[in-house]
Amino acid sequence: MFRSLFLRFSLAVSLSLALSDCMPASVDPPAVMTSVAFMPTVIARLSTPTALQASAERMDEGLRVYRAQYCGVCHQLAVGGTTGQFGPSHNGMAWTAQRRLLDPTYTGSASTPDEYLHESILSPEVYIVDGYADSSHHMPSYAHLSSAEIDALVYLLGHQR
Ligand code: HEC
Repeated sequence: MFRSLFLRFSLAVSLSLALSDCMPASVDPPAVMTSVAFMPTVIARLSTPTALQASAERMDEGLRVYRAQYCGVCHQLAVGGTTGQFGPSHNGMAWTAQRRLLDPTYTGSASTPDEYLHESILSPEVYIVDGYADSSHHMPSYAHLSSAEIDALVYLLGHQR
């Protein structure tokens, strides 16, 4: 019994070794390994394609508006590759928005992180982040943008953790 199992095993090993000898030169192991490493991502995508695709599209739209409005001249945002220093960083903005709402010095009227982001973009004057009151590069209001553009920005910033 064990002997036959062992024989089968060694047969399988030698077969796969023989097969790998016949592999075309173009199939290089690192490429195969990389695609194996990405398998969980691929499987996750296949399982809920629409939800993930929709979220990726909204993020892309947010980045498009963010770039078109030059927010990155004043703000840092790693996913957008921007390094502005005149305003607070937008990295981790989802958490920052929650912190602002809990801050006793907060003077705005938002009660959720998304509302805080809307408010910061449309009426930045209602609450100035500590340390930026004397800035020579104030946050301008973007009330002239369409509500779809504002929503795209809020979605993008609300997903920075
Ligand atoms: C001219 C520089 C400048 C530009 C351009 C600019 N901002 Fe700002 N932004 C600031 C400054 C300064 C602050 C901090 C003062 C304040 O709270 O208003 C700020 C604050 C913010 C905040 C609140 C951040 C926090 O930590 O609570 C958000 C959100 C924000 N900006 C989003 C944007 C978006 C989105 C754009 C582009 C549509 C943009 N900003 C363009 C200067 C700028």
